[in-house]
Amino acid sequence: MNRELKIPNHVAIILDGNGRWATERGLKRSKGHDAGFKNLKTLSDYILTCGVKILSVFAFSTENFKRSKEEVDYLMNLFVTGFKKERNYFVERNIKVIFSGRKVNLRKDVVKAMNELEKITKDGTKGILNICLNYGGQSEIVDAVNNIILDGVKEVDEETFSKYLYQELPPIDLMIRTSGELRISNFMLWQLAYAELYFSNTYFPDFDEKEFDKALVEYTKRDRRFGGIKK
Ligand code: IPE
Ligand code: IPE
Ligand code: MG
Repeated sequence: MNRELKIPNHVAIILDGNGRWATERGLKRSKGHDAGFKNLKTLSDYILTCGVKILSVFAFSTENFKRSKEEVDYLMNLFVTGFKKERNYFVERNIKVIFSGRKVNLRKDVVKAMNELEKITKDGTKGILNICLNYGGQSEIVDAVNNIILDGVKEVDEETFSKYLYQELPPIDLMIRTSGELRISNFMLWQLAYAELYFSNTYFPDFDEKEFDKALVEYTKRDRRFGGIKK
């Protein structure tokens, strides 16, 4: 890795294009999800080894329940087996895994696998992998508002409001979306407020270390002004 690169503190990835990756190879969409999961494992370790402290990834949106039962079931089974199988991988690499999203209407075995992975990796200090599963940016804001009301809080500022989100995380510095789609799709609306956006045409299963390095090169060139004046 090039030493001249600026390393963002919090990176977020909308990992998109698993289905098209598979279809273009004459495979079932499920094979694309397998390949995407495999890539997520090695790529997340690489990104956190580069010095990124938090990596948030969009694994399953609240809207993804609109897909066929077959595809949703496949993904849920993949989460259960994948999270169990890769426990040691994340522990050995000193990665703390956390989840964002609504656990209430998820299958019990999925929630169990999520809770177990969170528990076993809780002391990881290299970096945080925040997996957004059954996650929606608008739902997160609505859930925060309802919890604020339940707590009887009459007024909030940005800092207090942030504490009511699913996880207390710093703002996103760099948001990457793979597969050529140019939209946010209800991902981390609050946390993305001042993020630099990077779009890649590569499908997620092929978005490897070299592709991430390209995003870092681009991020390094960006002039982040936060409403101020060009330096
Ligand atoms: C991203 O890949 C993974 C999930 C949304 C679960 P897609 O499944 O959206 O792949 P495309 O966009 O159909 O190619
Ligand atoms: C966004 O991808 C959600 C995840 C990556 C989990 P989608 O493929 O669901 O997004 P749209 O439907 O193309 O906007
Ligand atoms: Mg997609």
